Amino acid sequence: MKAIAVEPGAGEPTLVERPIPDPEPGEALVRVLRVGVDGTDHGVIEGSHGGVPDGDDHLVLGHEAVGVVEDPNGTGLEAGTVVVPTVRRPPNGTNEYFESGYPDMAPDGEYTERGIAGAHGFMAEYVTSPAAYLVPIPRDLAEWGFLVEPISITEKAVEHATAARSAFDWDPESALVLGNGSLGLLTVAMCQETFGFERTYCLGRRDRPDPTIDLIEELGATYVDSRETPVSAVADAYEGMDLVYEATGYAKHAFETIEALAPNGVGALLGVPGDWAFEIDGGRLHREFVLHNKALVGSVNSHRGHFEAAVDTLAGLPTWVLEDLVTGVYDLESFEAAFTRDDTTIKTAVEFDRI
Ligand code: NAP
Ligand code: BGC
Ligand code: ZN
Repeated sequence: MKAIAVEPGAGEPTLVERPIPDPEPGEALVRVLRVGVDGTDHGVIEGSHGGVPDGDDHLVLGHEAVGVVEDPNGTGLEAGTVVVPTVRRPPNGTNEYFESGYPDMAPDGEYTERGIAGAHGFMAEYVTSPAAYLVPIPRDLAEWGFLVEPISITEKAVEHATAARSAFDWDPESALVLGNGSLGLLTVAMCQETFGFERTYCLGRRDRPDPTIDLIEELGATYVDSRETPVSAVADAYEGMDLVYEATGYAKHAFETIEALAPNGVGALLGVPGDWAFEIDGGRLHREFVLHNKALVGSVNSHRGHFEAAVDTLAGLPTWVLEDLVTGVYDLESFEAAFTRDDTTIKTAVEFDRI
């Protein structure tokens, strides 16, 4: 079968031939339909994030997948069920984080991530997975099922941000999403369509005309250009935000978020930057935190419950949003196009097969 893999240092993915995997007891064989691409995949390809499985010289890419159960292999799943796999797996059998259902909270060394760190991913014609990591989705969502994983990322981040405000009666009205990449724009859609924020803003650094700005505005949100209004000036230019969701990976935004928050607000940090030393006014930011009851939470990955919530969220998103967000789905003959980034690209996926 064909798979899409990257070798460390190659800087670009290639098509490789691999045997169709044999499911172990407890695993099902899944025929892959589509696999999405995000900023993390680009980090993996560039070599700034993740790594190959121990003893291997390449990594099969892909962590945002949807497929169909081909061989249930006695797992209790039914052949033909459309499923989305979760990302994390225990490195050696199991551990307390996987046992308790919170693999997303596991520290380094206690997990691998399929397609990202230490385990082959889903960009292959067939994959196997323990049934416990396969989340069934309605058949009519199969086309968009590769969006369940990234939506689940925001389900988790917003759950944790909300939990950080649960000690009082928090009634958020405004949200600022930093970043107009695929994660940022999905989150803008969720803020408007799912979470019901009264006012949503999205920060980017693009000139008009631009499809991401069009989507932001069609969703009823406000575009903020970071070249004119830096994050630290947003509160003065617009309003202090109840929720800030950072999805740029631009490290200064983590600290500027504190200034963009309204009193009692919470920032969720999602980006995964490289090392970058710079100066901040630590005293001012410390004071802001304390005197205005602000909170910041970091959030990575997501667990099965977030995937299940994401299925409902996906079902509730208007089709026009999905059609505008997904700018390209490419078959194996032209898979390279799914990894090309320009100002007309928002979300791409590779199609391995149709349902
Ligand atoms: P992406 O496609 O690379 O999007 C990042 C966006 O941020 C781009 O649109 C970029 O704009 C914008 N941006 C960067 N610096 C900016 C600045 N200074 N001002 C305004 N806009 C800026 O990545 P993604 O897939 O959406 O993911 C976003 C981040 O979250 C990445 O760091 C990714 O690794 C991370 N991530 C984390 C998790 C998690 O579990 N924590 C999950 C998924 C992704 P241009 O396109 O104009 O350059
Ligand atoms: C994936 C997460 C993963 C994170 C860090 C994200 O792009 O969606 O599942 O935990 O990257 O590797
Ligand atoms: Zn991802």
